[in-house]
Amino acid sequence: MNKVFGAHPGFRANHAKGVVVEGSFKASSEAAGLSRALLFNGSPIPVTVRFSDSTGIPNIPDGSADANPHGMAIKFHLPDGSETDMVINSLKFFPVATGEDFRDLLLALAASPPDASKPTKFEQFAAGHPSVPAAFATVGTPDSFANEEYYGVNAFVFVNKSGERQAVRYQMMPERVAHLAAADAAKQPPNFLMDELPERLKRGPAMFHLMAQIAAAGDSTKDPTIPWPNDRKVMDLGVLTIDKAVPNSAEVEKKLLFMPGQLTDGIEESDDPLIDVRNGAYALSFSRRNP
Ligand code: HEM
Repeated sequence: MNKVFGAHPGFRANHAKGVVVEGSFKASSEAAGLSRALLFNGSPIPVTVRFSDSTGIPNIPDGSADANPHGMAIKFHLPDGSETDMVINSLKFFPVATGEDFRDLLLALAASPPDASKPTKFEQFAAGHPSVPAAFATVGTPDSFANEEYYGVNAFVFVNKSGERQAVRYQMMPERVAHLAAADAAKQPPNFLMDELPERLKRGPAMFHLMAQIAAAGDSTKDPTIPWPNDRKVMDLGVLTIDKAVPNSAEVEKKLLFMPGQLTDGIEESDDPLIDVRNGAYALSFSRRNP
């Protein structure tokens, strides 16, 4: 990532530019049947949320195509004082299936500057991995972080009170989705997404439904390049309400570490190999940005 985006001391290796907000989550009554996690016990759960632009470039314009996919990282502050995280983004599925392939994708990007001869290393990599162009074709620039849908991409396993296990993928659904045409996105002020959210929250909360797409027998949990079929059942796990900007977002985000594998009893990692690769990379990025 540092080879592609440059090393920017003090910033995240990816999703360097972001904004921190707060709110709460209230589970639906169906959620507790799927998972015994404290998250779903029906009590209001305070959340800290960071929305972000892709890339490790701290001053990337929010409307740049490279700022896609946009990220949403959620820290749920559970009633027992522990935390569980969800780190999701606006890709409907991931470009590659393994950590090795993701490293090779990044190296190919780093070896493909604007003046590189054609076909570039990235074009060659993409030609051999059709899920790369397919995944990037699923994203667009929203007109607000609140008007975007975000996907968990990696599968997790819910365990309920009876010990029954069910693989799921998260979907965070806004009240409405609004994307800009690429030409309009490019004309927006450089911080339009970061600035819009705190302004919007002064007028009222932003609401999302946290949904779980339910895997059927035979659906692969270990390949995040393959979305499950659209006819799979999607269950409403509850409502996430974001109602407050934090005044000192730039300070607060430094000490925040969101980890896909920071889970709580009732939610487990699936066999998707990306989850552990991510855990390692996020922890390393955190330790480098907080030396
Ligand atoms: C092997 C695959 C991946 C690698 C190596 C990777 C790596 C990273 C790294 C190093 C960071 C910076 C972490 C920090 O400093 O706190 C990051 C942030 C982030 N990543 Fe990933 N990532 C991967 C896949 C994904 C996937 C599948 C998603 C979403 C579905 C995702 C969403 C995010 C988001 C939203 C952030 C920003 C978190 C924040 O606001 O603190 N990443 N990623």
